[in-house]
Amino acid sequence: MNKEVLQAVARYSEEIMGSEGFQYVSAVVANCKMLALELEAEADEDHPVTLDMDILVIAAYLHDISTVTHGFQDHQVKSAEMAVEFLNELDLSDEQIKKVEQTLLSHTVPLSESERGVLSEGQVLYDADKLGRLSGLAVVTSLVEFGARYPDRVVNGEVLAAILRHIEERFIELYQSLNTGPAREMARDKFNRTVTFLDGVIEHLSDATPV
Ligand SMILES: [Fe+2]
Repeated sequence: MNKEVLQAVARYSEEIMGSEGFQYVSAVVANCKMLALELEAEADEDHPVTLDMDILVIAAYLHDISTVTHGFQDHQVKSAEMAVEFLNELDLSDEQIKKVEQTLLSHTVPLSESERGVLSEGQVLYDADKLGRLSGLAVVTSLVEFGARYPDRVVNGEVLAAILRHIEERFIELYQSLNTGPAREMARDKFNRTVTFLDGVIEHLSDATPV
């Protein structure tokens, strides 16, 4: 694929996402590249990996373009639409555009182990996107969101323990939903530390709550 296409895609993404959004997007692009390289290095005859790096990178740049104007609800559909419209103007084949569209449409869908099958660009993008959300910082973000959503809620130890238990469950589900071994490996340390931290806080809060 010619380099100008990738540059045009990156520029378009930056224009739409703004500098902060583009910073996150660039981290997802970097994660995609890293995962694809790891996966290719691990591949063998019995477990071939046939990822199209250009498609993956283009999709990574464009995966959240619709969120700025349309929010996160079903953003994979809207982002795919906008991406197709934009890519039609560039020097890409119909097949390549179709593949980016497919990657975007599938990048938000967690698959069960039996559904994972042959690894697709969409599954790698899913993992790359989730890696940033698997650190302790995600716990803080969840608490801030809770505070914003229920500003009048009085939070005592018991309520906080329940919220943290809920956050921990989601966090574990998110980790388990990762499609690839390399993504799990990259997230493992932060994930384990965060779960240990949450367990400690929850235990402390539960002990401190008078029955
Ligand atoms: Fe997304």
